[in-house]
Amino acid sequence: KVVAVIMVGGPTKGTRFRPLSLNVPKPLFPLAGQPMVHHPISACKRIPNLAQIYLIGFYEEREFTLYVSSISNELKIPVRYLREDKPHGSAGGLYNFRDLIMEESPSHIFLLNCDVCSSFPLPEMLDAHRRYGGIGTILVSKVSAESASEFGELVADQTTNELLHYTEKPETFVSDRINCGVYIFTPDIFTAIQDVSSNRRDRANLRRVSSFEALQSATKTFPSDFVRLDQDILSPLAGKKQLYTYETLDFWEQIKTPGMSLKCSALYLAQFRHTSPHLLANGDGTKSPTISGDVYIHPSAKVHPTAKIGPNVSISANARIGAGVRLISCIILDDVEIKENAIVIHSIVGWKSSIGRWSRVQARLFCFFTFLSHANSSNKLEENLGNILEIAKKSYS
Ligand code: GDD
Repeated sequence: KVVAVIMVGGPTKGTRFRPLSLNVPKPLFPLAGQPMVHHPISACKRIPNLAQIYLIGFYEEREFTLYVSSISNELKIPVRYLREDKPHGSAGGLYNFRDLIMEESPSHIFLLNCDVCSSFPLPEMLDAHRRYGGIGTILVSKVSAESASEFGELVADQTTNELLHYTEKPETFVSDRINCGVYIFTPDIFTAIQDVSSNRRDRANLRRVSSFEALQSATKTFPSDFVRLDQDILSPLAGKKQLYTYETLDFWEQIKTPGMSLKCSALYLAQFRHTSPHLLANGDGTKSPTISGDVYIHPSAKVHPTAKIGPNVSISANARIGAGVRLISCIILDDVEIKENAIVIHSIVGWKSSIGRWSRVQARLFCFFTFLSHANSSNKLEENLGNILEIAKKSYS
């Protein structure tokens, strides 16, 4: 049996994703009309003998209850949310629930970061991992040398694919091959995490008896139950014939900033052409708007037949799109109203906003509109634009 674990973090993580994560936990923000975490979950469905999917995070339980039960029903796989009482780090979080995860006696455990956008070639990784025979295999992608320092950089043996060297977000360039945040492990990973945790505890105890100065420095280190997968596990295990790499040539992006959500929405919409064509609007029928390229429209949204939508547009629940509206490359969130003949290009229109008739909303890079309900009354508009600029400054600083 195989189980999959998706690390979803918590409210104190993902702050660069604000303001989009102010209303809804980042893992539930819609990309291509589906919550961000839906994409890795549905990729897990392709894993042979998958017994269970766990989401581990430190968000309030109630924020995930509804989603978890609806996705379990939809995909017919048990999905459970496990809540940490505090952040334990990407490996510590996994270790914290080891007993539950091992209940099914899985031979393999997939571990996925929730904030990556990928085609998630999981069955292919499992095959490769079985051939390599180590305790873990990491999904790897090639990125530009300039952007590599935002990720874990690694060097692998070109013949055996063994991980030889790993450095997390190094200041000087190491490699353009990076860690995609998608892994498969045997249950031995728990022993590796436990070793880090007990070493840390022993060192802290040793320092405590040796000198006051050392005690001070010990308090600056992490608690023994906080273990990071990258620095604490991958770096020390590199070059020991325990970890291997599987390189993907397919799309891969990290979703840390609001601007990336538009790009990732486009990537997932394009993927729907092959994986879920029924989710894409086809513009058939006399009452349908004109559709160009990949577009998702929630069944409860009302789009006027004279509107022209796409490419790369996703329209969420209960949105109302008026006559003559033109939407290009945007995410329209729940309960938005876009009035007649407005044009929205390269933007995210936030929950319950209203865009007045004949407006033009266009960003060169990325634009986020929210709190704009009743935007037609101009004093409210000014006040709200002030709010938006404040939030924008914070989220880009
Ligand atoms: N449950 C839980 N608890 N989840 C956590 C915790 C925690 O304490 N800490 C982090 N996470 C989750 C985050 O939500 C995210 O999905 C994942 O673990 C990794 O987060 P970080 O540890 O903050 O690392 P990162 O996203 O900056 O970088 C990692 O991912 C990159 C790929 O996206 C590193 O592994 C990089 O090497 C890698 O390139």
